[in-house]
Amino acid sequence: MWPELWHWLCFSALTFGKCGASCAAPLGEGAISGTDVINGCSRAAELAIQLAAADKPVLHDDSPDFLKGCVSLSEGLVGLAFQEAASEVCPEACAIILALQGLTAELEETARCTQTLLLLVRAYGFISESEPSWAMSGLGELVYARREQCAKVRRLEVERFRLPRHAAAPHPSAGPGSGQTTGQVAVLVAATPNKIHTYQPFLNLWRCYALRHGMGFILETDDTEVSPPHHRAPNWLRWFTAKKYLSYYKALLVVDPDQLIVPECWNVSIPAVLGAWSGGAFGSPDVATRDFGKPQTLNNGVVLIRSSQRGHFFLDLLLEKAAWMQNIEKDQGAFDETVLEILGMEANARGDEGYDSECAQYVWPNAKGNHEIALYALCWWRASERLAGPFGARHSSFFRFADPRLVDVNHVVGARGLEEPAVLHHFAGRSKDWDFMLETFGMARRNTGNCQRVFQHVDSRAAEKRCIPGGPPVTECEPPMLVC
Ligand SMILES: *[C@@H]1O[C@H](CO)[C@@H](O)[C@H](O)[C@H]1NC(C)=O
Repeated sequence: MWPELWHWLCFSALTFGKCGASCAAPLGEGAISGTDVINGCSRAAELAIQLAAADKPVLHDDSPDFLKGCVSLSEGLVGLAFQEAASEVCPEACAIILALQGLTAELEETARCTQTLLLLVRAYGFISESEPSWAMSGLGELVYARREQCAKVRRLEVERFRLPRHAAAPHPSAGPGSGQTTGQVAVLVAATPNKIHTYQPFLNLWRCYALRHGMGFILETDDTEVSPPHHRAPNWLRWFTAKKYLSYYKALLVVDPDQLIVPECWNVSIPAVLGAWSGGAFGSPDVATRDFGKPQTLNNGVVLIRSSQRGHFFLDLLLEKAAWMQNIEKDQGAFDETVLEILGMEANARGDEGYDSECAQYVWPNAKGNHEIALYALCWWRASERLAGPFGARHSSFFRFADPRLVDVNHVVGARGLEEPAVLHHFAGRSKDWDFMLETFGMARRNTGNCQRVFQHVDSRAAEKRCIPGGPPVTECEPPMLVC
């Protein structure tokens, strides 16, 4: 039951059924009707809510029989309560079933905890308007409490990790016979097959950029990791691919297709800016990305990962979170949280206070099923500043946070369009106008497939116009936005 439910949860949007359906009809194939569940188990649901709210174990050997019976009944119906048809069945009965399951499951792992969180969110969604008396004792508050609990579960998990030592040597899996392309950095971009036509000119440009800088080029089109039965967002594909190829290169530059390198800046090497070839104890970061300060939306569209034990460690810690449910902004929340976890391990290692996963609760939806992006960002800025210092002046032996005021290697195009100086423009999150993007680059789609023509174009631009690689970051959003 659970594994299927889990896939369904990953995939489904948090939309809730409409009320007013018939509770007299049998639930699924069985003989039990929605009314039976309401009459038989609302008392059990009420007790479960009261116990959970008082932070007491909900189900144990001495639990009353009516509670035990209803929990085991709900176990057989939880899949049904989640099916799309559930909206046609009996919302209140579904809410009872989901609440009983969500409140009695073990919470030993974060991934599992997020599953129960989703059961509760959905249960609450079914009854938040009607508010039946059994739920009055606080199902909504319990959702918030569960979120915090999941963050605590995560904190305990993080405590068990040890940060690998900083090493200049390559990852042990590399070496003679491993097929490692020694010394080469590769650009990695992923595109699910259904998107290739749309992305093609931008993939072409990334290939030419890799050629110009002597880099390898990996175009991942195998979408196995984001296809059924996984139901992961396509955004995860590049990280799964990075894990597969990291050992074979010196470092990977993980990028997106909805990005353009400003023509007059094509000779700027983004991996060099991010520290791929720098040496020294603090000079060679394991993971490097543009820095993001208040009030700019965090973005992981350009990331350099070094082929080191620590580089692999970062990817492992990130990929583990693909099993969490309903993460904020797909892989982005998981990425941001991984950064904080590692900064916390670094702080611990030098004897400072670490990171207690306080922001993790905002990685998941609230009782209404909404993601609180601004709350997450505010938490991240606060935590990252405490752990590593302020924007533009962060200290870490693991990460390099490239200051966009010097060189902006991932400028998310916002309200002011393309006026702000940067090496790379990222058309993230907006409804994308791919034709307009190509127009700003100044080439026709059909010509992007020929790198010679691309080089002619960017070199002639560079002859007319100096590359201004960075500039002042956004300091204020248009009200009422806190994050932009
Ligand atoms: C950029 O690099 C190319 C190839 O190395 C070179 O021919 C060209 O002159 C460079 N352009 C600028 C503006 O430095």
